[in-house]
Amino acid sequence: MEVSVTQFIKGLPKAELHLHIEGSFEPKLMFEIAKRNGIKLPYTSVEELQAAYQFNNLQEFLDIYYQGAQVLLHEQDFYDLTWAYLLKIHEQQVHHTEVFFDPQTHTDRGVAFDTVLDGIYRALSDGEEKLGISFRLIMCFLRHLPESAAFKTLESALPHKDRIDGVGLDSSEVGHPPSKFERVFEQAGLHGFRLVAHAGEEGPSDYIWEAINRLHVIRIDHGNRCLDDDLLVKRLASRKIPLTLCPLSNKALQVIKNLNTYPLLAMMDHGLLVTLNSDDPAYFGGYLNENYEAVAQALSLTKPQLVTLAKNSFSASWLSNPEKEQALKRIDAYYDAHKH
Ligand code: ADE
Ligand code: ZN
Repeated sequence: MEVSVTQFIKGLPKAELHLHIEGSFEPKLMFEIAKRNGIKLPYTSVEELQAAYQFNNLQEFLDIYYQGAQVLLHEQDFYDLTWAYLLKIHEQQVHHTEVFFDPQTHTDRGVAFDTVLDGIYRALSDGEEKLGISFRLIMCFLRHLPESAAFKTLESALPHKDRIDGVGLDSSEVGHPPSKFERVFEQAGLHGFRLVAHAGEEGPSDYIWEAINRLHVIRIDHGNRCLDDDLLVKRLASRKIPLTLCPLSNKALQVIKNLNTYPLLAMMDHGLLVTLNSDDPAYFGGYLNENYEAVAQALSLTKPQLVTLAKNSFSASWLSNPEKEQALKRIDAYYDAHKH
């Protein structure tokens, strides 16, 4: 029996490397948690909330995303949020995930750093034990806030270095270049955190150069705009700096007009280590498989191209080399069994 591309994607072992846990907050769970915490959302129903998910740009999305996160108060809320995401990706054959969280979104409302971290981490540990999903955790600084606030956040993270693998940079990009956080990233690097940053989503290719040269990141989140600069593309390819692309996010935030012109194949032809990810799946219409599926349909991807993307997702991850090799073997075995 021939396996369709849709079926092929469903069973393909994958890793996710760009996922904001607060962006996986489904409206139904948001209403449930709001109710139990006695918080009133400015919408009367799930449908009314979902109808507000129409964005012209990143900022319009962020305004709604930060509003939704305000109902999260207790450790159990962060657990439930994270557990719901894990159950979803478990269905989708996502075997490894590297999750972002935004502590400042919560600490600025008076929620303790430990409450946020404990809830997310407990769910991730349960996910590893009960669902077999390995993970890494990445703490992001909100770039629209001052450098001093990022330093304070880094300070709060230091007692928890054993549970936080990396630091990243997210939120409103234009006007907040990576260089604003050069000193705090330097400190984070000295403390042993791995470094990543959103760059070149809405911002220019210069921001990607800054992320590499001044923040010394080992992965670029998004990075679409690198194609504006040939030298940058060569640098990313020769240094094998992965890009974590998020196609449905780019579409929803109008970073790109439509997926038929998504430059994925051009990037692969240039030798870039590109991966597909969901970014904020509850807001952008799909988890990891829906992202693979949308791009596969729009660009008529072949099974070998999908295999390359899945392999890239593990190669670009922070798993150990033996773990990566095991994952790549698993993908090869899957391909052999489902190539026709
Ligand atoms: N925070 C959550 N999603 C984001 C995105 N796509 N870009 C920047 N910051 C974000
Ligand atoms: Zn993101």
